[in-house]
Amino acid sequence: MKRLAPSILSADFSRLGEQVRIIEENGADLIHVDVMDGHFVPNISFGSIVTKSLAGKTKLPFDVHLMITDPDKYLEDFVTDQTDYITVHIEVLDDPAATIEHIRSTGARAGVSLNPETPLESVTGILDSVDMILVMSVHPGFGGQKLIPDCLDKVRELKRIREERDLDFEIEIDGGINIDNVRTAAEAGTDIIVAGSAVFRDDIAANTRAFLEVLR
Ligand code: DX5
Ligand code: ZN
Repeated sequence: MKRLAPSILSADFSRLGEQVRIIEENGADLIHVDVMDGHFVPNISFGSIVTKSLAGKTKLPFDVHLMITDPDKYLEDFVTDQTDYITVHIEVLDDPAATIEHIRSTGARAGVSLNPETPLESVTGILDSVDMILVMSVHPGFGGQKLIPDCLDKVRELKRIREERDLDFEIEIDGGINIDNVRTAAEAGTDIIVAGSAVFRDDIAANTRAFLEVLR
């Protein structure tokens, strides 16, 4: 089953609890939590205080995406009873195996992400030890950008390698997904689809349901 992970980056933070309830009631599978440090990416979003304040307000599992330079230093801050995945960026990892182990030691599943300009070869050596690869389909830092179509080739290639090597990591896509391209993104081989601005605008309930109609 393909799963939908709406990104709260595009939510109205003065009504965050209410908006998260809407996506939950309409069938979303995970909450994608975009953490930005203003250093790895040219924007600052929010951190562990907001993440922890959501715990208990929803039953949805958290899919934490750390777009930060020093993830090992801050991992534990994002661990809650609901933290299912913690994803870090390959571009900042000195010792990917050690960070993957570190994530697992918190009880979370370990995800590794790669930026559009980062070659797939940067993660092919760790595919047997990660739980998830997050393919960035925009340059990280901001919601509401247009999907870079070449990134779908990375998804297709990851799926091929997964079959060839009989591995079981999940594939997630993040950035620029909307109701018009979500089917293509799903069919490329993604298991988890992130969507921010296309969910958290206008009628959030209807947007969530529209995505799920394509994915289910
Ligand atoms: C980008 C973030 C994405 C982004 C998705 O830096 O990692 O999760 O918020 O937003 P949309 O769906 O608007 O591209
Ligand atoms: Zn993200």
